[in-house]
Amino acid sequence: DSALHTETFGRHVVYLESTQSTNEEAKKIAREGAEEGTIVVAEEQITGHGRLARGFYSPFAKGIWFSLILRPKFFPMEASKCTLLAAVGVCRGIRRMGLADAGIKWPNDILVHGKKLVGILTLMSASMEKIDYIIMGIGINTGIKKNEFPEDFREGATSFLNEGINVSRKDLLAAILGELEKEYSIAQDEGFDKVLDDWRALSVTLGQEVRVIFGDDSYTGKAVDIDRDGCLLVNTGSEVKRVIAGDVSIRPV
Ligand code: BTN
Repeated sequence: DSALHTETFGRHVVYLESTQSTNEEAKKIAREGAEEGTIVVAEEQITGHGRLARGFYSPFAKGIWFSLILRPKFFPMEASKCTLLAAVGVCRGIRRMGLADAGIKWPNDILVHGKKLVGILTLMSASMEKIDYIIMGIGINTGIKKNEFPEDFREGATSFLNEGINVSRKDLLAAILGELEKEYSIAQDEGFDKVLDDWRALSVTLGQEVRVIFGDDSYTGKAVDIDRDGCLLVNTGSEVKRVIAGDVSIRPV
């Protein structure tokens, strides 16, 4: 009587009470040959990794902290779009579990009412020709109360509990894995056009005035679209800038 309706995603599970980072564990077993669809899930992470060398708060049993191992057939050049694919699958799973107005902040945070519910950090190992593995690291806040978040992101973060929903982590994980597998097989069979369109439909960034921040520099403009590579296009009034995810953050102005 399993809630899981996938072919491969989540069929092999490495479950840990506690770990430094599920992404690091996933890397280890991927190098040892773990098969596609394997997930590493932990009750808590001691040193969860976020984007831009930040940490990620991952307290015991108050979220789903997991990493999914993929071995896609597409070329390494396409891999950056996997991060958008991850956001689409996770956002859909979350909507199905009751947060119907969850949306995606470029490139791949999931927000609810302007606050961050999910962070995603994707890693890849590849040669020029072939992807060895991709790891999608996904962290979803389920049971964290507002005043339990570390002070620096207390205002900017939320959880299912904060939004009034007592979600089953097992059902939520199953819903997300189902949506991820669906979107992934579309990308493998037909390419990423549909994934990019799905991303656009779920985005809360497009149409918004944003500040693009890189290091100590920043500029503002209107987020108008993403291009075929998943880069964000920002119209500053005088030009359209193409923003690559890697090292920038954006916020609404
Ligand atoms: C971000 O918001 O900057 C990305 C956060 C990614 C967090 C997840 S939790 C599971 C996986 N393991 C990690 O160490 N990080 C990712």
